[in-house]
Amino acid sequence: MASLLLTGIAELSTNDPARLEQGGVLGLVHDAAVVIEGHHVAWVGAAADAPAADAAVDLGGRAVLPGFVDSHSHLVFAGDRSAEFAARMAGESYSAGGIRTTVAATRAASDEQLLAHAAGLVAEMRRQGTTTVEIKSGYGLSVHDEARSLAVARRLTEETTFLGAHVVPPEHAGDPAAYVALVTGPMLEAAAPHARWIDAFCERGAFDADQARAVLEAGAAVGLRGRLHANQLGPGPGVQLACELGLVAVDHCTHLDAADVDALRDSGTIATLLPGVEFSTRQPYPDARALLDAGVQVALASDCNPGSCFTSSIPFCVALAVREMGMTPAEAVRAVTLGGARALAREDVGALVAGRRADLVVLDAPSHVHLAYRPGVPLVRDVYRAGVPQ
Ligand code: NIG
Ligand code: FE
Repeated sequence: MASLLLTGIAELSTNDPARLEQGGVLGLVHDAAVVIEGHHVAWVGAAADAPAADAAVDLGGRAVLPGFVDSHSHLVFAGDRSAEFAARMAGESYSAGGIRTTVAATRAASDEQLLAHAAGLVAEMRRQGTTTVEIKSGYGLSVHDEARSLAVARRLTEETTFLGAHVVPPEHAGDPAAYVALVTGPMLEAAAPHARWIDAFCERGAFDADQARAVLEAGAAVGLRGRLHANQLGPGPGVQLACELGLVAVDHCTHLDAADVDALRDSGTIATLLPGVEFSTRQPYPDARALLDAGVQVALASDCNPGSCFTSSIPFCVALAVREMGMTPAEAVRAVTLGGARALAREDVGALVAGRRADLVVLDAPSHVHLAYRPGVPLVRDVYRAGVPQ
């Protein structure tokens, strides 16, 4: 197997638990080197100790980080809702009602159109350092359209999530119970072969706690692991439900009370914060500082979708988390790497230690701090995924 030595790394973020004491939250190594063998990391350490390899690249004093793990996105859709965004910036408030606009456009699009569009967004993410992405359905909301949305997502990632319980579609508006029965019955059956996860939008105007529980339990019965959209637009029961069910992650967590924070800490369910949403909907940001100080595990993700947040940029989310949510740059970088990996229950990505997949980002900067210090600047210079330059 061919080996490649990356050297000239001014600062390497490893997320290696063995390096936390000396290297802080990110397990930093200065003047570092990495050896990649095939698709995996073979060696990490001080450049002075690096073993020989078949080839070498001198990175000239740049920072290297694990590839970003974006654990929450909705990339399978058609249509444009920029007018809705413009109206919001002129004072309208966000309600999830616009989801139905995207559902109509998505149903009208061909599989080829949906795939080409989603693949374009994944390529956009890659250029900004994302090497693992989760993609949800949720803009089809019929048996046929949810199944084909997930088949499209599966072409792009193994981390696919069935979100038939996004909102009640117009044809079931008078009978939400019948729609939940469809989601937990024939729709789940058609979706499950293409999905790893199941999700629901637990929020006033979408699904209540009993409905969300029914959806998550039906998914679990056919082997899908659960995650949940909760406490986005206001306080609610979703976070408590996620913790009670022992879900891997609960996402948004914008409106939490003290009992929600305690439940997150005690359950180990990861709170995935999506600051691009608060940016794009002009809502208050979640209190990341309070969560971290309480000992809750935090991930950051993009939530890339046409309505509440149409950014594919993890560097932008890092900058927002630092500027607006009280996270240190190191905490934010950890949350988009190891945090995202944990939110997807992945042991093979999210850290640069021997044996993990060789997913890494080279910044055109000497340290990870520049991701927040230089917001809006395209600092991602090179991306390796499974050892392959992208
Ligand atoms: O995660 N919260 C629900 N779903 C998406 C928004 C969907 C939309 O507005 O199209 C979200 O924010
Ligand atoms: Fe979402």
